[in-house]
Amino acid sequence: MKTCAIVGASGYTGRELLALLARHPRLRATVVMTARPGAAPEPPQFPGEPTIDALDLARLRDVDGVFLCTPHGAASAIAQAALAADKRVVDLSADFRLRDPANYQRTYGSAHPAPELLGRAVYGLVEHQRERVQQAQLVANPGCYPTSVLLPLLPLLQGRLLDANAPIVADCKSGTSGAGKAVSERTHFGNVHENFLAYGVGTHRHAPEIWQEAGTQRIVFTPHLLPVFRGILSTLYVTPAAGVAADAIRSALRERYAREPFVRVYEAGTPQPELRCVQHTNQCHIAVAASGPLVVITSAIDNLVKGASGQALQNMNLMLSLPEGDGLP
Ligand SMILES: NC(=O)c1ccc[n+]([C@@H]2O[C@H](COP(=O)([O-])OP(=O)(O)OC[C@H]3O[C@@H](n4cnc5c(N)ncnc54)[C@H](OP(=O)(O)O)[C@@H]3O)[C@@H](O)[C@H]2O)c1
Repeated sequence: MKTCAIVGASGYTGRELLALLARHPRLRATVVMTARPGAAPEPPQFPGEPTIDALDLARLRDVDGVFLCTPHGAASAIAQAALAADKRVVDLSADFRLRDPANYQRTYGSAHPAPELLGRAVYGLVEHQRERVQQAQLVANPGCYPTSVLLPLLPLLQGRLLDANAPIVADCKSGTSGAGKAVSERTHFGNVHENFLAYGVGTHRHAPEIWQEAGTQRIVFTPHLLPVFRGILSTLYVTPAAGVAADAIRSALRERYAREPFVRVYEAGTPQPELRCVQHTNQCHIAVAASGPLVVITSAIDNLVKGASGQALQNMNLMLSLPEGDGLP
């Protein structure tokens, strides 16, 4: 049995990890802490939940792996302490996703808190980085929107199946849990219920992350807020390369992910993925269809599972040499 710490356990992703780990056969959360220096312990909210202890970095020495479930900016100092104790670290925040500290500063509005660690971080999109994750000490868990966009897109870019000059439109919709548990005017029930809106148009922080991993800035990323709690549905509008049909794009994706337990590419003629197909699972479901001059790809994930805590656990399993799918629905 291996052990792990969850730091920032009181948020949505921390609680999701606790729920996943409760059913994990080989990994136990033995240290469950707040990430706020000086904050008091939090008693369980519901029966069966653990107490969330005060932050004590010395306790990171007692575990094999550390999950950081904090806002960006707050993760770096804890990552430094965990790495100094020679622990495996999966950071769910954005602190280690952008390789260039200048890009981090532009995107997040402050200097990177630990630029010396950036070179050690592996971007943990497991299906594309499995060998590097197995060797990594520090994994930057991908953002939720980037996960839903990059899984369908990367094989097509790598296989040169898309027109290299045409923009790629990523029209993405997320449930409100993507914004975390803090109350805000935008995600307040009264503003979300019976409503639908785009936000961060042209400015969202996940665009630089998508561009970095895709190796191109010709992706137009627009997020929208759905009046649901969990799930992301991304609709990608792509221009195929000359002579490439939607069927070839679908076949390429089906072949690329045929042996991946957490990515399912639908056959032609099947219904489109829906949020309810993937909610509470670590799955990404993808469908491909021709539409006029374009190919339309839909991609659905649960932002809290494949888009956050499930993918983080998939990464940690690999880093600790455990079966990759352990504890993952
Ligand atoms: N939600 C998603 O779908 C999702 C998906 C992918 C990645 N992420 C990323 O994962 C991280 C956690 O997200 P979340 O949704 O779990 O957020 P959340 O629900 O807002 O929880 C944030 C956690 O961090 C703590 N925290 C807040 N401000 C802090 C500070 N200044 N210093 C130290 N700790 C602080 C909170 O403690 P208190 O209880 O004391 O406030 C809580 O434990 C974020 O970086 C987020 O961007 C989230």
